[in-house]
Amino acid sequence: MMKLFAAVLLMAAVVNSQMTCRLKQHGIPNEWVGLRDTTGKCLQEMRNQVQMEINASNIYLAMAAHFSRDLINRPGFAEHFFKSAREEREHGRKLIEYLSMRGQLTKDVTELIQLIDVDVKIDSGVDALRQALELETKVTQSIRSLIKTCEKSSPSWYHLSDWLITEYLEEQLTGERDLAGKLSTLTKMMDSQGAIAEFLFDKQL
Ligand SMILES: [Fe+2]
Repeated sequence: MMKLFAAVLLMAAVVNSQMTCRLKQHGIPNEWVGLRDTTGKCLQEMRNQVQMEINASNIYLAMAAHFSRDLINRPGFAEHFFKSAREEREHGRKLIEYLSMRGQLTKDVTELIQLIDVDVKIDSGVDALRQALELETKVTQSIRSLIKTCEKSSPSWYHLSDWLITEYLEEQLTGERDLAGKLSTLTKMMDSQGAIAEFLFDKQL
């Protein structure tokens, strides 16, 4: 057991050391790096958003696995959440690419993505849709806060704010509306048809 623990610690150390760039800068000019923020809040919130998107992806992956179980067997829900997981991972990737494009990933990226435990418990399809809507609401609030922080930073990161509004806020708002609509439909179906409603709804997903 101790050997296994030591091996895990060693692996973590190797992974961490691989994530840290030890190359010298070799006097390469860095004046082009425009994202200079006196408080550092915008950059920190941007990095937090990467983690939030990856966490959301893992939560959706757990939901998809739940609906894929033979005892649950809801292929429509499973596919819906597998797709959501892929989208969230893509959101995280795009944020990382933006940071790279603005010269913010030239040093240490060790803390950019942390592994966290995913604690997902689902009672039903309605419950899963409600949890997904709550999750997306939190993500939207986080992106709104990020945009506000970056606009207020000195100097203003107006390009980043514009990019976040165009690329992220639009998708968040339509995604929330879609989930709210699905939740409303399934809830009404369950009220009138009972348990068979979830089976029928799953076929439509
Ligand atoms: Fe997202």
